[in-house]
Amino acid sequence: MTAQWAYIKDLPSLEGKEVIVKGWLYNMRSSGKIHFLQLRDGTGTVQGVMVKKEVSEESFMTAKGLWLEASLEVTGSVRKDERAPSGVELSVSGISVIQNPSDEYPIGKKDHGIDFLLDNRHLWLRSSRQQAIMRIRERVIWSAREFLHNDGYLLVDSPIISGAAGEGVSGLFEIDYFDSKAYLAQTGQLYAEAAAAAFGKVYCFGPTFRAEKSKTRRHLTEFWMLEPEVAFYDHKDNMDLQEKLICAIVTGVLEHCRPELESLERDISKLENIKAPFYHLQYGEAIEMLHKLGSDTPYGDDLGNDDETILTQQFDRPVFIECYPKSVKAFYMKEHPEDQDLVLCDDLLAPEGYGEIIGGSQREDSYDRLLSRIREQGLPEEPYDWYLDLRRYGTFVHSGFGMGIERVVAWICGLQHIREAIPWPRTIYRLKP
Ligand code: 4AD
Ligand code: MG
Repeated sequence: MTAQWAYIKDLPSLEGKEVIVKGWLYNMRSSGKIHFLQLRDGTGTVQGVMVKKEVSEESFMTAKGLWLEASLEVTGSVRKDERAPSGVELSVSGISVIQNPSDEYPIGKKDHGIDFLLDNRHLWLRSSRQQAIMRIRERVIWSAREFLHNDGYLLVDSPIISGAAGEGVSGLFEIDYFDSKAYLAQTGQLYAEAAAAAFGKVYCFGPTFRAEKSKTRRHLTEFWMLEPEVAFYDHKDNMDLQEKLICAIVTGVLEHCRPELESLERDISKLENIKAPFYHLQYGEAIEMLHKLGSDTPYGDDLGNDDETILTQQFDRPVFIECYPKSVKAFYMKEHPEDQDLVLCDDLLAPEGYGEIIGGSQREDSYDRLLSRIREQGLPEEPYDWYLDLRRYGTFVHSGFGMGIERVVAWICGLQHIREAIPWPRTIYRLKP
């Protein structure tokens, strides 16, 4: 029987069979008589053991001359091995080289600086650490979509090219659009609100763009945002939904990505502790707490990155900061019924110093108040006429939020910096690769 191509992840169920593994050499060690070839194919890793006296002289010499990341087809039989992480290894009988690089692979075992790794992101993605992060990212997205789908939410995509600002005019990427100007979307929210009036429970999910010159470990210029929007949900319903969504995501990752979390040396007990109910602080309480902790952010200001870091270090579960001053938040948020200087909004901060992962609010549903907020903020009225229509034709209490995927991934993976949480990070100084 001729050997069949098999993925490394399936090898444990193919014990005793002759297979072909197609992949890359990520490590190799040799004694005079045996080569240990560490192979990866994207689905997992396996050790191929090549014994000199069991293969042709030519195969043995070929293997000896391989550089790391050579692309290969390796034939062998799957053998049980108690010491292997997957429980099997490959007894190599033949090797066919697709390409042996002409020199040494740039990313070696020595410690490279972050700039070097980012310049080589196209190669860095092959490392086991980056693979673990990308698998967790995929699971975060999958779990979120599964949760929303099962709860009756409809995915309604929003445009990336837009004629109006979503979050305020600073930080917009402007593009030439035939004879006029357009902007890259900062949020899909305004469109999600229109969709909520059509379908009730909706969400959009896509890339969003901010031209802010923030050089923090939490900011990208392009990031992915998941934005649910729900008809007849108020501020409290909105926070309940956020809590449920985050719990579903963490549960999904714990259920499916334990090996990845372990390989990142993540403290899993901290994630297992993420359960409802989360903590709640009113904005004023947060400011008081911050003053006791040594911050000098005055009442009325937005919380800075450092404030968020200090605050979340006080909590072992996510914390909602509710009802910020109107002056520091976007025009579409609904005024607090008991204090017209505040709005019905929340920022959800992740523990361990990670800070804001979600920003949400109840939306202004009065035509007149929304129009005066647009004017107060000096925004042009014409681009928002369709958005105002939602308050003219059957206005409704509604709320929603945006969850930044990379912020959530950075927190769950325990990353120092958000740039590792996205395959191709875009920051002020980085457009390549
Ligand atoms: O708080 P933000 O700006 O809220 C909105 O855009 C709303 N329109 C969302 C809505 O209500 N539908 O952004 C929401 C989230 C933040 O909490 C954060 O997780 C992420 O998006 N985010 C960023 N992530 C990476 N880099 C940046 N520059 C980010 N800016 C926001
Ligand atoms: Mg925000």
